[in-house]
Amino acid sequence: MAPFNSVSDRRAFLKFLAASPLLAAAGLTPRWFDQVLGAPVAAQAQDAYVIKSVREALNIFDFEAAAKAKLSVPHFIEFDLGVFNDETLRANRDAFTKYQIKMRRLLGITTVDQSVQIFGVKWDAPIFLCPVGRITALNPEGNLAVARAAKAKNTLEIMSGAQQLEQVNALRGEPVWIGVQGGAPAETLLKRLEAAGCPALVWAIDGVGGGNQIGARAVQRAGVANLERKDDPRCNACHQNEGRITLSDRMSDVIGALGSLKGEAANQVSWSDVKRVRGMTRMKLVLKGIVTREDAQIAVQNGVDAVIVSNHGGHEDAGGRGTLECLPEVVAGVAGRIPVLIDSGFRSGADVYKALALGAAAVGVGRAYAWGLASFGQDGVETVIELLRRELQVAMAQTGATSIAKITRATLIARN
Ligand SMILES: Cc1cc2nc3c(=O)[nH]c(=O)nc-3n(C[C@H](O)[C@H](O)[C@H](O)COP(=O)(O)O)c2cc1C
Repeated sequence: MAPFNSVSDRRAFLKFLAASPLLAAAGLTPRWFDQVLGAPVAAQAQDAYVIKSVREALNIFDFEAAAKAKLSVPHFIEFDLGVFNDETLRANRDAFTKYQIKMRRLLGITTVDQSVQIFGVKWDAPIFLCPVGRITALNPEGNLAVARAAKAKNTLEIMSGAQQLEQVNALRGEPVWIGVQGGAPAETLLKRLEAAGCPALVWAIDGVGGGNQIGARAVQRAGVANLERKDDPRCNACHQNEGRITLSDRMSDVIGALGSLKGEAANQVSWSDVKRVRGMTRMKLVLKGIVTREDAQIAVQNGVDAVIVSNHGGHEDAGGRGTLECLPEVVAGVAGRIPVLIDSGFRSGADVYKALALGAAAVGVGRAYAWGLASFGQDGVETVIELLRRELQVAMAQTGATSIAKITRATLIARN
């Protein structure tokens, strides 16, 4: 008989109870049980084992568990959860179940070429690292560790913000793509980025107009209404100049981010700003956050060089649509004129395969490498990239695609 595991057995028992129509009538849904049990919303339940080294990692979720074990509660929550009741966060994952891969057998393929070219530069695989802000909360080396890993793996990297730009570029020996978000970047910033040699400006527009920021929940769920960071040794190494943070401060942030009911949301930006920024820089302009055919068409008309289908990993967007569901219409909207990249919810090579088969030129990961960074630094990021590539290789070998260009829509079945 299998050894008794009190936590997982109790969880199984409660899940069984959760399915009961009697409890459903009382308003106790399976999701309520998940919340009570503290199951991470983004995860697909793995067992409770926490890996001690990257060599033990079997898949990306091993890194989520390891990051959770390592990070403080507010940091983990801020990185892991979504906004607006997590609807979009869950939709990102659910979208992958709507497509299945037709796996063929005995094709005799032992090697595949995953390399892709984007803006004339060759990368070893179609998997890139998304911009993630406040990354030193995960690892003190932050972007430097990520840059070393990306360089070691010849992986496209988009860095959030320009604070460590010159250091990162020197370390890589080549400039990174740079990510900005919110309002239109100022001309002085554009000049600095150009001077640093950045080939592409990735402008995230999905938070414009107000997102339901999750910082408040991070403080709330830490079990404190009044977090005296400067007095807490776990916080003051990084936050000593930021003083006291209270839950009510964070709630004001939320209201501020949502904008007032009179429509005075901060950072209002429109397509004329995109056109203006396009005219102000020689860098390739990539819009991150496009999820509709209409906006894809307008982006092309405004001289945008590529789009990223993204909802910030469910971190900003209340739409409730997974990006994989949005991808086909964005691909149709650009009609082959510019590359379409995608991110949000990607956790395996099979996920990556599905997006490529639907027409994406490359796939970005955010949390996956953030978990790797939080748990094992540069090694963790490299292993996350390696795992995703190996899983993609399996899917390619079993569908007969010896190169990325040979991945076709015909190898996917849409679930009815
Ligand atoms: C904690 C966190 C911080 C983020 N910071 C930024 C950022 O500074 N700029 C940006 O464009 N996107 C940011 N994103 C969004 C990511 O670039 C990316 O779109 C998202 O993480 C992809 O979804 P995934 O985490 O499910 O892979 C952030 C996402 C998270 C979860």
